Amino acid sequence: MAFARYQNEIYTQGQKGENPSLPITFADLEANASAALPQSVWGYVVGGAGDEHTQRANCQAFERWGLMPRMLVAPTERDLAVEVFGVKFPAPAFMAPIGVIGVCAQDGHGDLACARAAARTGIPFMAGTLSADPMEDVAAAMGDTAGFFQLYTPPDREMAASLVHRAEAAGYKGIVVTLDTWVTGWRPRDLSAGNYPQVPSRCLANYTSDPVFLDSLKPGEDPTEAAVEKLPIFGGPFRWEDLDWLRSETKLPVIPKGICHPDDARRAKDAGVDGIYCSNHGGRQANSGVPALDCLPGVLEAVDGLPVLFDSGVRSGPDIIKALAMGAAAVGIGRPYAYGLALGGDDGIVHVLRSLLAEADLLMAVDGYPSRKDLTPEALRQVG
Ligand SMILES: Cc1cc2nc3c(=O)[nH]c(=O)nc-3n(C[C@H](O)[C@H](O)[C@H](O)COP(=O)(O)O)c2cc1C
Repeated sequence: MAFARYQNEIYTQGQKGENPSLPITFADLEANASAALPQSVWGYVVGGAGDEHTQRANCQAFERWGLMPRMLVAPTERDLAVEVFGVKFPAPAFMAPIGVIGVCAQDGHGDLACARAAARTGIPFMAGTLSADPMEDVAAAMGDTAGFFQLYTPPDREMAASLVHRAEAAGYKGIVVTLDTWVTGWRPRDLSAGNYPQVPSRCLANYTSDPVFLDSLKPGEDPTEAAVEKLPIFGGPFRWEDLDWLRSETKLPVIPKGICHPDDARRAKDAGVDGIYCSNHGGRQANSGVPALDCLPGVLEAVDGLPVLFDSGVRSGPDIIKALAMGAAAVGIGRPYAYGLALGGDDGIVHVLRSLLAEADLLMAVDGYPSRKDLTPEALRQVG
């Protein structure tokens, strides 16, 4: 797929006097989304843990790396396609799971808008447990594009199993189990606005549509009220024995999200997971100061060939390319697509994804890297 073509489309429209209605730079995207969203929603999306040092460090880490240009290659066609977990991705990128994204859309159904953007671009969407619409409806809106289900694991095993089996039946291609959010990190913006979590009743559709959960209710009990009252909405603590349980519960690829330490990565591999998702949740959970990008090489080395997904701090096409060159199998886009959604629904997300991938594709063109396999650690130089 020629992602760079998006540039030509924009210039062609410009010659007709039509400038893009959506921002091109990340700075403008962020500024416009900030103005478009209600302040409490904005604080939830943009915010992170503590003084947000880690969140900033995630982005700054990319600035310490550069791609070495190679001349006399001039690849007129670039091949960005990859296959991960037996799924073909048109580009090595995906939409990272964003819980409660429903509220970023004007109509409150942001999860469906993300799914439609996935259908339109072919870029996989990781649908969240904390969704305004049930996972089955979200999967249906993805069309032929692959989706993954992000699991917050309810402490009740029967209910956790029900979510996993529903994801299988709905056609998701893998279970991304989030490890780093069993307790909410210290988030000053949400604390200051008294939001825990953001508008809870509008992100519980996967719970309130769950047959095991519904069976547990007393006659006449309201499912949403019961879910708010009884469930730890981010799931419960998830430990090594729970990973073994999850592994035994599904044949789908299991991908633990939030792994940064090589020993954890190695042990997860030994536990039979199909991939590792190296991420620090965009600095939303722990203000520990270690940028996720700095953890990626150690994780890759530890798992020796197991696919490693990566996110946290990706804001541009070059960021995607740098994470790929380090060895990520595919790179997760987080906040940028939420901002696109806030500004333009699924059109906004499509614009953000196409812009990021056009920039990545053009970087490969200019710098002489014809395909994904040419992006290796040797292509990178440390700078600064
Ligand atoms: C508003 C918001 C909500 C999120 N909710 C979830 C979630 O429910 N589950 C999860 O695994 N990750 C969640 N994440 C983390 C993302 O999957 C991803 O790790 C993060 O956005 C990457 O950081 P970046 O956006 O700064 O690039 C959330 C991120 C944001 C911004």
